Amino acid sequence: MSASTNVALIIGSLREASINRKFAEFIVSQLPDNVTATEVHIADLPLYNQDYDDQAIDSYERVRQQLKSAEAVLIVTPEHNRTMPAALKNVIDIASRPYKESVWEGKKVAVVTASPGTYGGRVSGLDVRKSMQMLSAQMMISPEVYLGHATDSLNEDGSVSERTQKFLQKFVDEFVVFAGNTGA
Ligand code: FNR
Repeated sequence: MSASTNVALIIGSLREASINRKFAEFIVSQLPDNVTATEVHIADLPLYNQDYDDQAIDSYERVRQQLKSAEAVLIVTPEHNRTMPAALKNVIDIASRPYKESVWEGKKVAVVTASPGTYGGRVSGLDVRKSMQMLSAQMMISPEVYLGHATDSLNEDGSVSERTQKFLQKFVDEFVVFAGNTGA
């Protein structure tokens, strides 16, 4: 086990007031000191095009390197039209190529979704899991976290409600173990 664990954080929403960002910030705030989370910014990534595979695109190299060097990846994302947002799919595609240079193979990946709607964006989460299975990533299986009616889980100041904090803590504890940090 390494002394410290690097987690790459991907937030599937580009929206400034994203509720998913608020839940991600809470999760990150609960990580122990020896687990460091660094956001992989995805807003500036050109739409993936296979023609770029033999070109050096700075933003592509940046995210590939960030993901490659992380022991685990945490994705916190909304659902857009019953699947993952295009910006999230884009970074998954970028990091899966060039052929045979995918960063996802064997990578530990966990996903959390949140939506103001009843179903919590779960199809988005399940679609992330589907892509990760195809890419031979090592997906965290449980607990599954799809936060429904998620705006009700936020206080007026944007902080996470106590009830949802308790629920998310179970995820955090499992994620820390999954990411390779048992605290031993
Ligand atoms: C949505 N939203 C949405 N919600 C959901 O539960 N299932 C869905 O399929 C969709 N589809 C969808 C498409 C598009 C284009 C937008 C902009 C929104 C609503 C979505 O959950 C809501 O806007 C969340 O607040 C988005 O999360 P962030 O951006 O606040 O993190």
